[in-house]
Parts: sequence; C-alpha cells; structure tokens
Amino acid sequence: MEKKLPLQLNNISMTFPGVKALSNVTFSANQGEVLGLVGVNGAGKSTMMNILGGLLQPDEGAEIIINGETVNIKNPKAAENLGIAFIQQEVAAFETMNVYENVLASDFDKWRIKGSPFLNKKAMKEEAKKLLATLDCHIDVDTPTHSLTVGEKQMVQIARALSQGGQILLFDEPTASLADTETQKLFEIINNLRSQGYIIFYISHYLDEIFEICDRVVALRDGQKTGEAPISEINKEKLVDMMIGHFLETAKRKDARDKADVILRAENITGVKFPKNISFDLHKGEILGVWGLLGSGRSELFNTLLGFDKMVEGKISFNQGGELEEISQKDFYKHVGYLTEGRHHNGVFLDMTIAENITSSDLERFASKGIGILNNKKEKEESRKYMKQVNVKAVDENMIVSKLSGGNQQKVIISKWMLKDPDILFMDEPTKGVDVGAKAEIQNLIFDRSEEGVSFVVVSSELEEIMNLCDRIIVIAEGKLVGEVNRDEFSKEALMAGIVKQEEKVEN
Ligand SMILES: Nc1ncnc2c1ncn2[C@@H]1O[C@H](COP(=O)(O)OP(=O)(O)OP(=O)(O)O)[C@@H](O)[C@H]1O
Ligand SMILES: [Mg+2]
Repeated sequence: MEKKLPLQLNNISMTFPGVKALSNVTFSANQGEVLGLVGVNGAGKSTMMNILGGLLQPDEGAEIIINGETVNIKNPKAAENLGIAFIQQEVAAFETMNVYENVLASDFDKWRIKGSPFLNKKAMKEEAKKLLATLDCHIDVDTPTHSLTVGEKQMVQIARALSQGGQILLFDEPTASLADTETQKLFEIINNLRSQGYIIFYISHYLDEIFEICDRVVALRDGQKTGEAPISEINKEKLVDMMIGHFLETAKRKDARDKADVILRAENITGVKFPKNISFDLHKGEILGVWGLLGSGRSELFNTLLGFDKMVEGKISFNQGGELEEISQKDFYKHVGYLTEGRHHNGVFLDMTIAENITSSDLERFASKGIGILNNKKEKEESRKYMKQVNVKAVDENMIVSKLSGGNQQKVIISKWMLKDPDILFMDEPTKGVDVGAKAEIQNLIFDRSEEGVSFVVVSSELEEIMNLCDRIIVIAEGKLVGEVNRDEFSKEALMAGIVKQEEKVEN
C-alpha cells in the first residue's frame, strides 16, 4: 500500500475578542481526498483555513499533526515549508506583476543568476509556462496579471502553490467569481490533483459543488463540529441539517405581479464598449432580472446607467409619482441604491464599524437637526434592527467590518441599501458568498420590499436564484439585449435561447 500523508487536527480552538470562532474541533484529512468544509456564514471555516495557512495561531491545546509529526505553523512561510498552500476566498494576486513573476513569487532568489543581481528571466518564464501547462492553462506568461480573468488569476495562484511544492491545498470559496466553464475547468484540475495524492480542502456555499467535487464533508456550526460523513452517504437535506440543524424552506416568488406603472424607462443605453443600445422598462414593485454569461456586459449596463462608466448615448426617464420624465443621471442616482459586485473594491468600508457602514447610505437621516452632528444612538439602534433582519453574526454593531466573515460582510452591504430605502435597488450578485439560510432571508427581504413598492434590478449568475426571485428577466449577450422572458415562461432553455443565437451571429 502506498504511504499516506494524513493530516490530523486535534482540539483546534480560536478565540477572538468576544467570539469563539472555533471550539475544540477535531478531524483528519487523507492524501488523495477532497474534504469539504461546510457551514453557514461565520461558522469558522475560513478561520480553520487561516490556522492551517499560518495566518492565525490557535488557542493553547491545539495540535496539528502532519504525517505523524506535530507541527507548529507559526506564520505563512512555515505553512509554505510544510507544503500547505492557500487559494484565497477573494482572489489574491500581485496585480502589477506579470504572470510568470506571480507564479514564481514565493521564491525569486532561486532564480538569481549565480554571482549576479539579475534574475534568469528566460528560465523563469519557461518554468512558469510548464507549471501552467500542467493545469492546461496556456496564457502568455508575459501578460500583466491585472488583465487576466478571475479564472485565469486563480490558475496563476494554483500554479504558484504547485511551484512551492505544496501537498495540502486550501480552496476557500474558489468559484464565487467564476463563470460556469471556469468552474468546470477548476473541477477537472482538482480531480487531477486528487489523483496525484494531494490533500485538498474545499469550501463553498454552493451545495451542488460540494456533492460534485468532495469525497467527504466536515460540518461546522458556531465554531463546533456538528457532523462528518462521506459524501456518498448523505443527501442535501442531511447536509443542510448538519449545517443549520433544521430543514430549510427555500424562498420563492409567489406569482408574477400584475404590472404596475412604469417607474423607469431606459432607452438606447450605450457605453464605450458595452452596453449597446439597450432599452427596457421597469415597473413599480417589479423584480427584474438581468441574465447573461460572465463578460456579457451585465455589470457594465448597471455602471453605465448609473453614471460610473461613461454613457455615450441614452435617455433615462423616471416616474416620481406622476408621469415618466427625462432625468439626469445625477438626479436619478438620488433615487436608487447600487449593490456592486466587487465587495472589497467598492462595496464596503472595511475599517469602519458595522453601524457606520449600514448608515453610510443615508447619513443625513442620522444628523441632529441643524447642527450636522451624527446621532450615534439612533445610528446604532437602526443598525441593530437591520442586523437582526438579515441575521448578521457579530459581537455587536461596533465591530469592525474587516473582522466579519465574508458572508456577513455581504449582509452588512445588503442592510446598508435596505436602510436607504430607495425607489429602485440595483443588485449585482446580491447573495455571493452568502450561506443557504441567509440567502433565503435576503430573498424574502427583497420580496417584502417589492410588495411595498420598491423595484429591483438584479444580476445573478445562479440560474436557480434568478428564476426564483424575478418577475421578468431580460437577457444580455455581447452587450446587447437579446431576449426577454416572463415568469410563466422561465426555463434554462428560454434564457439561453437568445444568447446562443447571438453567439452564432458573432461567429459568422
Ligand atoms: N480577526 C477577527 N477578529 C474578530 N473576530 C473574527 C476575526 N476573524 C473572524 N472572526 C469571527 O470568527 C467567526 C468565524 O469567521 P469565519 O471567517 O471563520 O467564518 P466562515 O465560516 O468562513 O464564514 P463565511 O462563510 O461567511 O466566509 C465570525 O464570527 C467572525 O466574525
Ligand atoms: Mg469564509
């Protein structure tokens, strides 16, 4: 029998001020195994990975044993030396470096020409190319990393892990920003690495993925292990039960609403590249979906309409309780909320508290009359209300947002826009990184608000989500509007039809 490289984690605890993120978690992982780590937002998954990656030190009493030897992972370098490599939750790459530099970034010294301060760039490029080729990735290694797609950046990260001679790979929500085809490619690579004997940790809120790629799962809840099973012995209900302890009703739109007045008419919206001549109406209280493949120009439509990207041509008319009237982008923006896709780039103030973030969308409301001083008490009270509504897991409203788990940060952003209570809320991937339970809570919140007359325009890459949520969906491909589907006709085929036609046109 081949020699096994098992990883044993004993009594792992992690205490942050006010939070016990992990308590006495014990489990093991085997060579050639993909181990899924599942649990709701804030359960402790990333914390566990950060301990293995040397970014956090567990509490006294923890024991990590690799291949029979007790190890001390005191920093990321120590993790690297032990063959542990991290593929992070939010893709981390040195954006200004070229691909080959990024692949070999862990040890430039190795590539210095003997007796000279210079690097042997030719050899470096060859090595990077070779490593990427093992991942079936054939990008030009001279490309600046910032111009790669998220999927390609991830390949670069994996190649970097392999270049360090990693044996244990930690994937923390690797597919959150990937297109379907990129996810499939990633799975092929993970399968391949499994057969080569790597130990692979896999974290995801997409339960379908867990069933597709994992051999075994360990479930965490409130920092404790609540279950462990080979994937072949459980089903979705059992998995959700291990994660949250009860059966879960998914949120679903009852019926498409009767069409109310048009609140927004967008005509010929055209940006520099995308969108191209897009027109649509949005009704009061309607939830309108925007469907398209990654790169089809969905986010660009939002950015152009809302004035973040240049609008080359287009007319926006808005109904302020009477008739549709043309409105400038600046005035239009006063009536809307915009939940952007890139949480860390422009969605949240990481160094500020939860309360400050939630109230930032409408600070005027919290200013004491006439003197422009914030009423902190009111700010905090109101924030607590929203935190409760979407179930933000935190010590209290004074917690700094960077210390929240990924999914809880997303919930803070949702709260922020719900607080502004705009007439129209644009949401780009609203439930990205959010767990199954919170997803339903957020969707229900959207339903409730739409009943009150708020209109929504939602981009989601998840077919199931967009079909559950929306009254009507417009379809976009290559920056153009290629279809519109009403709720009673929703199906994958109907949504893909326009896209397929458009792609054929482009190819011919
Ligand atoms: N640096 C920190 N300071 C204080 N608390 C922290 C810190 N890092 C994490 N926590 C807390 O530890 C708990 C576990 O967080 P963790 O990031 O491990 O969750 P997770 O399971 O990865 O969740 P998600 O699915 O949302 O990413 C959370 O309550 C979080 O707020
Ligand atoms: Mg996490």
